[in-house]
Amino acid sequence: MLIANVSPRTGGKTTDSGLLARALRTTKSKTAPNGRLVKGFDADHSKQFWQWAQTAEFDFPVDALASARFHREYELASDVIGVVDCGHTENHPDITDSVLRVADLVILHMAPTSGDFERIVEPVDKTTIADMIKRCAPLREDGTPPPAVVLMNRTVANASSVKNYRKEMTAEGWDVLTATIPRNEKLAQAIGFPLPERMTGPFAGFEAVVLELEQRGILS
Ligand SMILES: Nc1ncnc2c1ncn2[C@@H]1O[C@H](COP(=O)(O)OP(=O)(O)OP(=O)(O)O)[C@@H](O)[C@H]1O
Ligand SMILES: [Mg+2]
Repeated sequence: MLIANVSPRTGGKTTDSGLLARALRTTKSKTAPNGRLVKGFDADHSKQFWQWAQTAEFDFPVDALASARFHREYELASDVIGVVDCGHTENHPDITDSVLRVADLVILHMAPTSGDFERIVEPVDKTTIADMIKRCAPLREDGTPPPAVVLMNRTVANASSVKNYRKEMTAEGWDVLTATIPRNEKLAQAIGFPLPERMTGPFAGFEAVVLELEQRGILS
């Protein structure tokens, strides 16, 4: 299974990709009593996910593959979950187009802010992410677009913004996950450092994402 992590611009994707991969690895449940095998893919020219994996010595591989031929070149065993950090769709739509051809799930990462909402829903001269997901359908093996969910990050407890943008995104046709990732200094400083041993405290949201995806039957 391949998970494409997308956003039009900077949206917390690299942070979330690393920590989601870790949560997929460590979260134990009835369906995955030993957690899951994961592999990362860095499909962003910044190579920051790849670099993080090297400096922090991840216990899973991260391939650097920022290529418009991603769909032809990626390698993933059938029992491994691939976590792809896609880079900005605004600037490199060709790479994300390629990833979307083979993705089994799209996670759109956003903060509940007007800035992120506008760039996702009403970009002035860019293709919306929703249209990118729709247009990949004819290029996919099954001819249908991959399922897509929104993960809100950098949220503030009890702020009205989460509720407001959940409503706005739902009205736009998006499926917003109940689990959210808080705005937190430990998460802000995560890139470049070892992944947490346990997904507790501010990291607990990533385990909640894994369990929610599992409960919805989206996760293999
Ligand atoms: N949950 C969080 N709480 C607070 N800060 C966060 C959180 N997640 C990410 N950040 C901060 O937001 C910024 C962007 O995060 P990140 O680099 O993960 O985004 P990105 O989508 O990968 O960006 P780009 O596409 O430019 O590579 C960073 O400064 C990071 O420290
Ligand atoms: Mg990044």
